[in-house]
Amino acid sequence: MPTADEAVAQAAVDTLTGPTAPDSPASPTAVDSGASASASFRSTDQYSSAGLTADAARVDTLARALLGAVHSVITEHEVTYPEFQAAKKWLMDVGEGGEWPLFLDVFVEHAVEAVAAKHQEGTVGTILGPYYLPDQVQLSSPATLPARPDEAGTPLAFRGQVTDTTGAPVPGAVLDIWQADEQGYYSGFAPDIPAGNLRGVVTADEQGCFEIRTIQPAPYQVPTDGPTGALISAAGWHPWRPAHLHLLVSAPGRRTVTTQLYFAGGEYLDSDVAEAVKPELVLDPTDVGDGTREVTYDFVLENA
Ligand code: DHB
Ligand code: FE
Repeated sequence: MPTADEAVAQAAVDTLTGPTAPDSPASPTAVDSGASASASFRSTDQYSSAGLTADAARVDTLARALLGAVHSVITEHEVTYPEFQAAKKWLMDVGEGGEWPLFLDVFVEHAVEAVAAKHQEGTVGTILGPYYLPDQVQLSSPATLPARPDEAGTPLAFRGQVTDTTGAPVPGAVLDIWQADEQGYYSGFAPDIPAGNLRGVVTADEQGCFEIRTIQPAPYQVPTDGPTGALISAAGWHPWRPAHLHLLVSAPGRRTVTTQLYFAGGEYLDSDVAEAVKPELVLDPTDVGDGTREVTYDFVLENA
């Protein structure tokens, strides 16, 4: 339960940022998609920080270690005043552009996920990323994700079964799935895509079996016209993530798996800017002749 003070503080934050998921931005700039990701983060906070207490010893340890790491970089690389001022300006730009969720999910989340994964069984997880939206359309398997009438892309039939760690079916498991379209854009964060497009919450059958029909997504490009993109290009890196499906797989009494599935032979599998690819998560769909590709992937949920 939040205290009265926390509730007042949250209400103040909601007044500034809006408590609900953002509408699609009106123009296709990175600053808009960054700001959308920030507003969405405040309203959805999938891994909520609520209940985290400010243990002084822990804060002291982490803050010292973080500042120490920064000081080491400065000393080791003899960072100059102009470089320090450029860094300050860039940090301010990331905040003003609302790109912190985007930046942190691309460059930092994978390390946090690796720490969490050390204590997990079941299907391998990977990063959530900034584009999850809750409360999407509820569907029963076999399901077709909402798509535009002229949705471009190779049709994909994705099937599988959700079991527990003993191999027993998990009846009625839920697969919350979201993905980019064939241009690499996510509904809710890019203009001109209907709300809820290529997003759905699919309930599996009594055997935990599911079938989801969608299209194969395209690789995703970190917006290049904002401060995150400016850093990427200034450093001579590439801004791409390989094509992927996002999933949250859940069932009562089980730990929810947050993961992504990739496509064998796709670009950027070996150079994901977000470092979130794991070999266990690469699908290899087969062509079935009518232009559709099919693939099976089973999920294993450990007890909560
Ligand atoms: C980002 C985008 C993604 O689609 C993803 O899966 C992870 C991170 C990003 O832009 O931060
Ligand atoms: Fe993504």
